[in-house]
Amino acid sequence: EINFFFPKQKTLALIKPDAMEEHRDNILQEIRGSGFSVTQLKEAVLSRDMAEEFYKEQREKPFFKQLVEFMCRGPCLMLVLTKENAVEEWRLIMGPTDPEQAKETSPDSLRARFASDILHNSVHGSSNEQHAEEKIRFIFGDICSDAELTADGGTNT
Ligand code: TYD
Repeated sequence: EINFFFPKQKTLALIKPDAMEEHRDNILQEIRGSGFSVTQLKEAVLSRDMAEEFYKEQREKPFFKQLVEFMCRGPCLMLVLTKENAVEEWRLIMGPTDPEQAKETSPDSLRARFASDILHNSVHGSSNEQHAEEKIRFIFGDICSDAELTADGGTNT
């Protein structure tokens, strides 16, 4: 593959708790098959504080509380995906936020195939490059030490 002229870009991808048991392998296969390099990877349960910080842009939304509950109910797989145009490409592979819409407009997308509803929608991907950098630093950088990640269920407050 020739990519002399296109710089690599990074995005943050998560396999959310709803998809970890049944769909994780399919999602990883899709990631590899789409030409991303997985440059960082970890499995962890988000604490409530971390989930709130991670989704701070949604703080005023009516679904925020449910979203935080859901995100810390079990382990997530967190990945840094590297490829040219990674942010946009991963969003396309995920499909629209709502799986009902995804089934209409992008039936091959991950959310069309694996998500059960708009909240339990199986995967996350940064929406732009700035968010990607910020969230990668939050998950993998020194802002968040592994000590903040709980091993067993994320009900610590
Ligand atoms: P958002 O950033 O709008 O979507 P995306 O994950 O596609 O970037 O919302 C963040 C998460 O919040 C979304 O993945 C699932 C949840 N959510 C709901 O539960 N209900 C909603 O109506 C919306 C818009 C999002």
